[in-house]
Amino acid sequence: MTDTTIVSVRGRRVWDSRARPTVEAEVALADGTVGRAIAPAGASTGTGEAIDLRDAGEAFGGLDVRKALGNVNGEIADAIRGQDALDQASIDAALIGRDGTPNKARLGGNALIAVSLATLKAAAASRGVGLWRHLAGDQPVRIPLPEIQIFGGGAHAARRVDIQDFMVVCLQASSFAEALDRTAEVYRAAGAILKARGLLQGVADEGGFWPAFASNDEALDTLVLAIEQAGFRPGPDVAISLDVAASEFHDGGRYRLARDGRELDTDGMIAMLLGWIDRYPIVSIEDPLSEEDAAGFRAFTRAAGDRVQVIGDDFLVTNAKRVEMAAQTRACTAVLVKPNQAGTVSETKAAFDAARRHGLGAIISARSGETEDVTIAHLAVGWDAGQFKVGSIARGERTAKWNEVLRIEEELGSQARMPAATRFEPR
Ligand code: PGA
Ligand code: ZN
Repeated sequence: MTDTTIVSVRGRRVWDSRARPTVEAEVALADGTVGRAIAPAGASTGTGEAIDLRDAGEAFGGLDVRKALGNVNGEIADAIRGQDALDQASIDAALIGRDGTPNKARLGGNALIAVSLATLKAAAASRGVGLWRHLAGDQPVRIPLPEIQIFGGGAHAARRVDIQDFMVVCLQASSFAEALDRTAEVYRAAGAILKARGLLQGVADEGGFWPAFASNDEALDTLVLAIEQAGFRPGPDVAISLDVAASEFHDGGRYRLARDGRELDTDGMIAMLLGWIDRYPIVSIEDPLSEEDAAGFRAFTRAAGDRVQVIGDDFLVTNAKRVEMAAQTRACTAVLVKPNQAGTVSETKAAFDAARRHGLGAIISARSGETEDVTIAHLAVGWDAGQFKVGSIARGERTAKWNEVLRIEEELGSQARMPAATRFEPR
């Protein structure tokens, strides 16, 4: 037995930002160190994601996680107790093998990702270094560029508008702190505009303002106005990033934009998005088409991939094989990386590495159901991802992650570098 041998694994039921139960895992090593991690949960999930195991039944709308916790304390603990926490690949292989399904449906992706991340954190803690440093080793890292939500929509706001995330990105900010400063001014200005119009109705699931708009265009116009009223030039100082999350309103080959009263085919969607790119300072678009519409992704990337970053989220579900396929077919230019979509750290890293290998951008991302867990902030820095997305600059489960990057930036001191760019270049 070495110092980093796993001696105990245990699950605890804790709560997420939507008042839903979720899985926390605690992994203890022989030297007494403990790693702890909490599984997040999506609302606009891709069909190819690792399964978030829920109990069904009466409690909490069927969303209880007693079965997943039982798996952590039982089969999962049995599978990895006695193994070396420094050997993440073997730990994750054991988790995947014990589950035995292609989508982690038996033991639960939520149970597995909590344990996998907790093991990683225990290993870092045992070495006495911050997780980001443990991951980076002696490689240089950059502070990631944040994309931060100002208005939430789609599945995170009862479909009040169709588009899910209206975000800003400060491409030329000289530091993470400066990017947050600018974003906070834009957020304040957006709130003031809504208040003056009598449209201030609280916030959506990720802390962006509730989108009480008559159309998607009105949301975009208001965002540009907020950037201006905050004293910035829309585009060069503060640009726009969208997550369309188009799978959510795609049905039977048609895109139904309820807010705009329009129903579009793939060509119509692409034309609408190209029109927005012409009219607004948009630099990045996530899931512009449905996860089922690979041809649409290719066509959109052909038409706009040299002007905006095209991100696959539901389309790629943090799956290395899908990332390879997307790269080979030029279906997008960047990959959203969500550990719980994959279900283990190793599979998340494999998807990330596939993106890197093919020159695609990578954005480490939170989910709409989150907690105070800040592990992904360390992945974003330690893997040198270059970009980071965790929702808005309001609500504690969001600011916990931004604030953690501020601490890391401070720790890096003069070595802290941001990826300065006027647009997202393929790597
Ligand atoms: P989700 O949304 O966590 O609800 O899936 C986040 C996203 O689509 O990026
Ligand atoms: Zn998304």
